[in-house]
Order: sequence, then structure tokens, then C-alpha cells
Amino acid sequence: MNEQKESSILDRRNFLKLGILSTAAALIPNSVLAAGKDSSGGIGNGKLFPPIQKYIAKKYDNLLGGLKGISDSQLKAHFGLYENYINKINEFEAKIKSFDPDQANPTEYRAWHVDQTFMLNGSVLHELYFGNLGGSQKEPNGNLKKMINRDFGNLQILMGHLKAVGKVMRGWSLLAFNYRTGRLNVYGLDQHNQLVPTMVFPILVLDVYEHAYMIDYGTDRKKYLDAFVTNIDWKPVGERLERAMSVSFGEAVTA
Ligand SMILES: [Fe+2]
Repeated sequence: MNEQKESSILDRRNFLKLGILSTAAALIPNSVLAAGKDSSGGIGNGKLFPPIQKYIAKKYDNLLGGLKGISDSQLKAHFGLYENYINKINEFEAKIKSFDPDQANPTEYRAWHVDQTFMLNGSVLHELYFGNLGGSQKEPNGNLKKMINRDFGNLQILMGHLKAVGKVMRGWSLLAFNYRTGRLNVYGLDQHNQLVPTMVFPILVLDVYEHAYMIDYGTDRKKYLDAFVTNIDWKPVGERLERAMSVSFGEAVTA
């Protein structure tokens, strides 16, 4: 495919202008977002809108009884862990906000900020993970399919790459849109807040911590990785890509 044709296919004018500027938006409840919507239905779009006062755990009960190879007992244990991250991020952000940095014990103050990014990423990554499971769309389509073919060759190669990274990392394997290059990449994280790339938008998130599969598969991560792939809902993955592409990318990102 020549570059001009490729560029035409991925012309950002064809993408929905949803105006969601970061994955943090995934944590904002609809009721709050409504107050910040402009007449076009976008979110933010350069305008100030009321920030949330605290994080609220989302519910993923729709997944129960609907996944193949990932049991309800496994999911329920995982939901509980996610809800704990939400509670903890509220706790740590309240602590940090109310504390006088000039009076802080440096060791304690550092620990709070380490915990803050751990709990925040633990919350967001789990929401993205649960959000890309289940559903009925079992293949990528539209611009997502075109970009996968362009950047990886085909879906099978991408899935092999995602699982290979998931096999060797301790925490996460991500498919993400890279704002600097405009391409899709797979990234591995050893913890929620370790090896986290900047200026990328995760669109497909695979949790490879043992807590994600121990109940169903013991230490057999390979079987879990195969089960995960069969349970991907490609609809939200495609929608995340559309949101990511609605924001300027390229050299402007680091201007
Ligand atoms: Fe997890």
C-alpha cells in the first residue's frame, strides 16, 4: 500500500471527534461528564468542566456467565482487587492533597507518591482490561483493522506479539496508539507504574498478573493467554482508537 493511500485511509477527518483527551476520562462518571459537554457532545474541547471529587468503581457484572475459559469466581476475585485500587487511590490522593509538603517526612511523602501512581494505573488499566472483554464483536473492523494490518501485517501476528509480551512481563501487555508516531505498538509493563510509556493511548489491555488467572489455570499462563484472546470484545477497542486518533499527533506532541 503506498503512503498516500495509507494516509487517505487513516485521514483523521474521518474519525469521530469525541474529544476525550486521555485515558483519565475513563474514570469520570457520565453524570459528571454531562455537565462538561459542549453542544457537539464532546468532552472538554478546551473548556473547563467540573472535575470529579473522587474515583468511583465501575461495575462489570455483565461479564459474569459470559466468558469462555474465565470463570465467574476468577472474575469476582479480580473485581474485588480492582475496587480496592479505587479505594486506595481516593485515600492516597486525599492524603497528598491535605498534607503540607514543607512539613512532610521525605520518605513517607515519596512512598505516598509511588502508591499514588500504582493505585491510579491499577484502577485505569483494570477498567480498560474488563472493558475489552466479552461482547459480540469478535474481529476488528474499520480503521482498527486497517491499522493492525499496516503496523503488524495481520491480526494473527498482532495476537502472537501481544501474547509473547504477556508471557514474559509481570503485569501487563498493551496494544497502544503512539501519539509521536501515529502507529500502534505493543508495550509490556512489569507493574502498573513501571515501564509505563508516555504519550500513548492504550486501546487493548491484557492483565498477566497471576491474580488474573490463578483460580482458573494455576500457573499455566499460556492457557489463560489463549482464553483472553478468544474473549476480546473488539468494539470498545475500535472505539478507543477512534478517540485516540481524534487528538493531534506527530511531532506536535513534543513541541
Ligand atoms: Fe488484575
